[in-house]
Amino acid sequence: MRKIIITLDGFSSCGKSTLARQLANELNYVFIDSGAMYRAITLYFLRHRIDWNHQAEVVNALKNISLDFQYNADTGKSDMFLNHEDVEVFIREMHVSDNVSAVSAVKEVREFAVAQQQLMGNKKGIVMDGRDIGTTVFPNAELKIFVMADPAIRVERRYKEMFEKNPTISIEEVKNNLESRDYIDSHREVSPLRKADDAIELDNSNLTREEQLEVVLKWANEVISKPH
Ligand code: DC
Repeated sequence: MRKIIITLDGFSSCGKSTLARQLANELNYVFIDSGAMYRAITLYFLRHRIDWNHQAEVVNALKNISLDFQYNADTGKSDMFLNHEDVEVFIREMHVSDNVSAVSAVKEVREFAVAQQQLMGNKKGIVMDGRDIGTTVFPNAELKIFVMADPAIRVERRYKEMFEKNPTISIEEVKNNLESRDYIDSHREVSPLRKADDAIELDNSNLTREEQLEVVLKWANEVISKPH
């Protein structure tokens, strides 16, 4: 059976990562959460007080960053490692979410992350989610999906997720963070979020996780079984 590259792009909190992870499990593919890489870089910059508007500082800092994903048997998911430290929990915190869009808009940061993402796709058999995966990272991917969901539903989903970790969080905070990230992610100069011309749209506002997986799995199997 031939192996392909599947990309899932879309705004924050559309359920891309969950879907991408399930899809990879079903196909026995590798799942890569590209947003986690930008989050880990942001965490490093915050911890080391790197001014990301200062090009030389960014270039130097990136030389000291190594990123990799390692399987966590307790959760059954891969955790993000930054310089050999498991930072999976820290990269999901609000101070990282508040700054990650600004950091990921920096050209040198994108070049650094994209180069590593492209290497991960060398052997195909990969599902990667993000913002520019179908447009910039893998423009020749065999299956590109653009995930969408109603903004109010996205806020509700993210609020529930964040509330479990931090019950003091307000719905307003979550809404403001999502709105500002949407704006920065789609208006930045370097590879802004946009739907690739050949991407299929998936609006999951009214779909359960099982239903959306079924739809996407069908698309994937159609492409995989097509003679090429
Ligand atoms: O998917 P996420 O919400 O964890 O992503 C965090 C941020 O990283 C998001 O606001 C924009 C940025 N990002 C990006 O610019 N390009 C990607 N391929 C993935 C994420």
